[in-house]
Amino acid sequence: MILPITVYGNPILRKRAQEIKPDYKELPELIANMYETMYKAEGVGLAAPQVNKSIRLIVIDATPFEEDEPELKDFKKAFINPEILSYEGEEEAFNEGCLSLPGIREDVERPAKIKVKYLDENFNEHIEEWEGIRARVMQHELDHLDGKLFIDRISPIRRRLITGKLNAIAKGKTLPDYRIIPNK
Ligand code: NI
Repeated sequence: MILPITVYGNPILRKRAQEIKPDYKELPELIANMYETMYKAEGVGLAAPQVNKSIRLIVIDATPFEEDEPELKDFKKAFINPEILSYEGEEEAFNEGCLSLPGIREDVERPAKIKVKYLDENFNEHIEEWEGIRARVMQHELDHLDGKLFIDRISPIRRRLITGKLNAIAKGKTLPDYRIIPNK
């Protein structure tokens, strides 16, 4: 089932999301719905607050980047309670977009490498070191679980320049071609 997406101005995007316990109801169904929602909106990552659930769940499908990074061939995964244990390497700029910020793209600086800890769909723990696209996407999606958006990481001048666009999204004047939850 395709779920409607929360957009800038919705307070759920500014909340710290809750840890998920193994008895969380209907998690496999929610994960399946999040994939479907992400594909419909042509995203490569989606965090639960973007489908109006304040829980620490992310889905990522980085396989469209396989041409640039062959190790992403099968990189389609759900991440429960993910954490970044450490950052490494220089900060790099990458042009980011977000389904909750339709029509906005900005260069965002983030560390190139991360060590990440997460539970998979079966609640098995993994600790892995990533760089490249998956390190980028995970940092962006994990920000969502902590109430942050990529526009919090751009310069004050850039932020000023997109104020009009942000207000238009918040007021429901920007309508993407996927279903959204209108702000109150
Ligand atoms: Ni996003």
